[in-house]
Amino acid sequence: MPPPQRTRRRCSLTSLKTPQALAALHARSFTSPRPWSADEFASLLCQKLVFLVTVPSGFALGRAIAGEAELLTIAVAPNARRMGAGRTLMDLFENEAIARESTESFLEVAEDNLAALSLYRGVGYRESGLRRGYYRSQSGTILDAQVFRKTIGA
Ligand SMILES: CC(C)(COP(=O)(O)OP(=O)(O)OC[C@H]1O[C@@H](n2cnc3c(N)ncnc32)[C@H](O)[C@@H]1OP(=O)(O)O)[C@@H](O)C(=O)NCCC(=O)NCCS
Repeated sequence: MPPPQRTRRRCSLTSLKTPQALAALHARSFTSPRPWSADEFASLLCQKLVFLVTVPSGFALGRAIAGEAELLTIAVAPNARRMGAGRTLMDLFENEAIARESTESFLEVAEDNLAALSLYRGVGYRESGLRRGYYRSQSGTILDAQVFRKTIGA
């Protein structure tokens, strides 16, 4: 997903992880697409259709609309990777999406993100499209995004 648009809506946040904590982990996890700010996380978390799932070492943010869920972002702390947290977060994301009556799930991933590509394929996602030139790295490199899709809750 591209960086979110900022909005000025206010709301109270009750999640275990603060927008600041989410932004800090995001900054340790992403250069391209650019990491999201605490304000951007706060704004997303205020949206009724957006949901957060967490484990001690990471989080995933999703959005469920009209039977379809989108994985907006996922990050695991660098020192806790390759220990199953990513897979657990994908399960939690999927369960929450199903609870919100989604039957399809999709996500976008940069074509060079081998860890994420492998994670998504491993939990049953399949390529369903390509968005050309979707991401731009900090050095200016243009990258395509793979779109992945999965039927859930069947
Ligand atoms: C992608 C990410 C969330 C994976 O989290 P993780 O906790 O390391 O994932 P898991 O330990 O659950 O690994 C599950 C599977 O993903 C794949 N995988 C994870 N890291 C990998 C790597 N570095 N290289 C290749 N495959 C990898 C493997 O298939 C792995 O299964 P295995 O360990 O049995 O071989 C994590 O690397 C991350 O936070 N990356 C930075 C942020 C990011 O790129 N998010 C995705 C944006 S689309």
